[in-house]
Amino acid sequence: MKLSLEDCKKLIHEATLARTRAYAPYSNYQVGAAILTEDGQLFTGGNVENAVYPLGMCAERVAIATAIATGARRIVALAVVTANGGTPCGACRQVLREFADVDIPVLIGTPDGAYHELRLEELLPESFSVTDLKEAQ
Ligand code: THU
Repeated sequence: MKLSLEDCKKLIHEATLARTRAYAPYSNYQVGAAILTEDGQLFTGGNVENAVYPLGMCAERVAIATAIATGARRIVALAVVTANGGTPCGACRQVLREFADVDIPVLIGTPDGAYHELRLEELLPESFSVTDLKEAQ
């Protein structure tokens, strides 16, 4: 799917807003994520840390879980915004893959509105998915 410039800007904007709501008192590294589902809905999330450090949740997975919990199943784009243009962690890439095709756009941005676009398969090449399980049956 090719996102319009307007869609890209909207996703980056929403991820930037979500980042302002992140709860990251331990790392002080705020992350905002926004996802677009195939029916055109937009969901956001920020990272949510915890005094028990390993319990912290990444922004991307907060946004994905929110979308899936409302009944959405397919994600067609993701935007992530951090202070320095950090990319989604490996775990978030795999969780995204569960609900997204390999060619979806992943926008990596900063709070000033700058971003660049990658495909999920560039972030997670030769990914494992439900297809592999089905092929083995
Ligand atoms: N973080 C995310 O929210 N997403 C990522 O993809 C990378 C890392 C969060 C986790 C933690 O709250 C903080 O950033 C520092 O690792």
